[in-house]
Amino acid sequence: MTVARNMVHYIETGSWIRKMFEEGARLKSIHGNDQVFDFSLGNPDIPPPQKVLDTMAELSPIMFHGYMPNAGYPDVRELVAGHASGIYGVHLKAEDIVMSCGAGAGLNVVLKSILDPGDEVIAISPYFVEYGFYVENYGGVLVSVPSDKDFLPSLEAIGKAMTKRTKAIIINSPNNPSGRVYPEDTIRGIQELLEDHPGVIVISDEPYRAIVYDGITVPSVLGIIPNSVVVTSASKELSLAGERIGYIAVNPGIAGKEEFVAALVLATRILGFVNAPALMQKVLAGCLNERVDVSIYRRRRDVMRSIFDSLGVEYALPEGAFYLFVKSPVEDDLVFCSALVAEKILAVPGRGFGHAGYVRFAYCVDETIIQGAAPGLKRAVETCRKL
Ligand SMILES: Cc1ncc(COP(=O)(O)O)c(C=O)c1O
Repeated sequence: MTVARNMVHYIETGSWIRKMFEEGARLKSIHGNDQVFDFSLGNPDIPPPQKVLDTMAELSPIMFHGYMPNAGYPDVRELVAGHASGIYGVHLKAEDIVMSCGAGAGLNVVLKSILDPGDEVIAISPYFVEYGFYVENYGGVLVSVPSDKDFLPSLEAIGKAMTKRTKAIIINSPNNPSGRVYPEDTIRGIQELLEDHPGVIVISDEPYRAIVYDGITVPSVLGIIPNSVVVTSASKELSLAGERIGYIAVNPGIAGKEEFVAALVLATRILGFVNAPALMQKVLAGCLNERVDVSIYRRRRDVMRSIFDSLGVEYALPEGAFYLFVKSPVEDDLVFCSALVAEKILAVPGRGFGHAGYVRFAYCVDETIIQGAAPGLKRAVETCRKL
């Protein structure tokens, strides 16, 4: 049996996040869980809201667990549409919603629906590493466009990267790994760029929309860009990453909407997802206004910030999500990561997000881990500064 060449390549060069996570598991087996400070994975550790757990327990014994339409239960799509209309300020109907197995599946379904081989998809670096794999799944080409010094999209750079083959721009705000929230002006600027490119859609990847700090609001891409689609999930907002539930919300004003939605529904089926999980669709529909306690993440963000401030290390200011993207004290982010590993601290090099020279710390870990890591962080930074 031979594994496909590109898969062999992916396995070798694959994901820094997974590599670091596995290194963490190895260190934990040697030194014990409490001696390793693992900031590698964006896996929410806060429990889901109680109502979510209660709804799961209540519904499971009484509901039908069989197949349903590929787009999801009609009543769930209806409820999600009503809820999403409130969030995005556009009138969404059930037919504009396709339930998905999380945002990862939603992105794949959208990309499968729009990409012909050789089509290009622009992503703003730093970006979620899986975008590259997802785009290549359908023969597309990911075009990485650097963000500006504040980790916001550079309209000029996006404009320069657009070609006749550009099919989509993926944006992600609040951003993984920078935590930045893209302001309304930026979204409006992207819409202005698109006026000369009517065949291009914006895919807004928004699993962190509800995890924001200091009263900041995330602008509605659907309200500003007609040719847009939102992909989201309950993975982070409800701490349900393992349950694989989310949805795609299609802008009612998108060109060729009917055919696009038909493609999304078919893609859900033929990619083998078939439909989003039955129980979780119903749970989500019953808990649309629930959220994890964001103040816990905010407190951790502030502890992380104060540690790096005291070390004089720069970082992108996180306005949302639960990541701190820290400037490496030495040019090579891998060198900083190695110095961190020597202190039993796991973080992910920025090159894994298409943005070398930085390192991502996921602070979905207990505050004791953050505090416990502080002396090791200091030593690792000092070691790198001496190089
Ligand atoms: C920016 C971004 N998009 C998508 C995903 C995938 O999330 P899901 O669990 O909903 O598939 C993640 C997960 O970490 C993410 O950070």
